[in-house]
Amino acid sequence: MDRDYSLNGDVIFLSDTHGNCQHDATVNAALSWVDRHKPRFRIMAGDFVDLAAMRTGASEAERAVALQDDLDHGWALMEAFRPTAMLLGNHCWRPWMWLGSTRMEQRELGQRLIDDWRERFAKIGTTVYPYHAEQGVARLTPNLVVLHGYHAGLHAAYKLAQHYADPDGYAIMGHVHSKAVGTFARHPAAATGITLPCACDRSKLPYIARAVGSLRWDVGFMTGRIVDGLFDASWTWHITESEEPRGGRPLWT
Ligand SMILES: [Fe+2]
Ligand SMILES: [Fe+2]
Repeated sequence: MDRDYSLNGDVIFLSDTHGNCQHDATVNAALSWVDRHKPRFRIMAGDFVDLAAMRTGASEAERAVALQDDLDHGWALMEAFRPTAMLLGNHCWRPWMWLGSTRMEQRELGQRLIDDWRERFAKIGTTVYPYHAEQGVARLTPNLVVLHGYHAGLHAAYKLAQHYADPDGYAIMGHVHSKAVGTFARHPAAATGITLPCACDRSKLPYIARAVGSLRWDVGFMTGRIVDGLFDASWTWHITESEEPRGGRPLWT
């Protein structure tokens, strides 16, 4: 990709709102930042809906979670945020997974959602990327790629830098719900991976009560600037809440 020197402007990265499990204070803070700064790039790094009931291998309890409220919240946010780029995440990708189902009603619902989303994203001018380790990578500038993310665990930012960032460049992903920076030595200059905080409310997600990883989640969003066609090093996290472990609590008091 050639450097476009005329490309300048603010950029906001919002990620992992998970539909009706969104963290309202964070989403409102992100929308008011958009209002004030009018960023040229508004990136949604995935998981704008939760779709618990559509997970492959969903439990009975997950299959009982209604879809409509989740979809309504996800779309209310998309229509307010109007992402310029959407990196579909593993949760958003469930309708596509259902296209391969042996059950007719699952294939039909999957297809209906995909058709609806295609139309709605087109209406708000969003370029949509698939959940795909190669095709799901949006290159915004010669030194910046964004993806939903295909790494997990403590070293996700480092592995992200290793796989996706160019020398002296940045790769930014959602998915892990926590903020981290990892650098990878690469000739002639280090590559940087940044993982985004999520914008969902841990207490609303039905399936993570015993997921230890969620104890290190951060809640917030990220902003930065593109200057003369390159992503600028002065990016910032805006953390609404760090999900610090709150410790043991007796069941009955
Ligand atoms: Fe997520
Ligand atoms: Fe994800």
